[in-house]
Amino acid sequence: MPRERVLSGMRPTGKLHLGHLHGALENWKNLQENYDCYFFVADWHALTSEYSDPQIIKESIYDMLIDWLSVGIDPEKSTIFIQSKILEHAELHLILSMITPLAWLERNPTYKEQLQEMANRDLSTYGFLGYPVLQAADIIMYKANKVPVGLDQLPHLELTREIVRRFNFLYGEVFPLPDAILTQTPKLLGTDGRKMSKSYENSIYLSDSLKDIREKIRQMFTDPQRVRRSDPGDPAVCNIFSFQKIYNTPGEVEAIAKQCRVAGIGCVECKKILTELLIRNLMPIQERRKYYSSHPKEVERIVRRGIGEAQKIAQATMQEVRKAVRID
Ligand code: TRP
Ligand code: SF4
Repeated sequence: MPRERVLSGMRPTGKLHLGHLHGALENWKNLQENYDCYFFVADWHALTSEYSDPQIIKESIYDMLIDWLSVGIDPEKSTIFIQSKILEHAELHLILSMITPLAWLERNPTYKEQLQEMANRDLSTYGFLGYPVLQAADIIMYKANKVPVGLDQLPHLELTREIVRRFNFLYGEVFPLPDAILTQTPKLLGTDGRKMSKSYENSIYLSDSLKDIREKIRQMFTDPQRVRRSDPGDPAVCNIFSFQKIYNTPGEVEAIAKQCRVAGIGCVECKKILTELLIRNLMPIQERRKYYSSHPKEVERIVRRGIGEAQKIAQATMQEVRKAVRID
């Protein structure tokens, strides 16, 4: 039996941080073992919010591809490509836009949230409203069965399913209904205790120097009630402890929790332990990062091959679509 297809994308709007690694990327890496995977850089999607200063998109594309390769997205197992190189996405987006009722887009909770969150930008555009229609095109172009996404993207997936039902009803069964795979994200906050995000300047990046990593952890918030070394702490409210749970062994984590509660271990020491573990974990990623950064031709070759494979599928799908809608 052929493997099921997985597809997911990421917008190139800056460097990747630990939130991306332990959220999306670890998950993608595991999926590669059991699915036929397609991972792409959603540069047109990035343009919906970065249109007034698109340089950041251009600068981020190769950075992001290098991050993906460095964490172990394997071009021998997965097809890696760039959305805007497959013009068929734009054509399918256009066709889907004809059958997508405005009300479906306007009531989308992610849309409403993002409008509020990015109040500093003018997002009252046609393209931004249609963001999930383009996303639907990305997904069904490859007839993906499974789409790994975070919680905020579930409404988009639901919308894709509605669009698929409508397309199949109107023009015949062309597309399978894709299912979301909800990515379980460990709760890693930024250095200031807020959600890790580029815009808050509180992120630890995959590409940070060892010096920066040490300094960022040193400055990180711990249990706010624990002021003096002799105060007992509460690991449950401490962000450093969330990191320990990822990087340390279960036994050590248990020991730290116990010691923390009786002021047997201080935050400085706890952070030192974490720093060394984090660095050990990031070293191999950074080694590979160094390799790919100094071999840009190889990265280019990998992506060119991915684009070629994606193109073949996209062309075949579009032939089917054009025939189904009788504009061929
Ligand atoms: N909207 C997604 C995000 O912001 C990125 C994306 C674009 C995507 N197209 C996709 C994700 C298709 C999954 C499938 O994270
Ligand atoms: Fe957090 Fe560790 Fe300090 Fe406890 S000892 S409050 S877990 S940093």
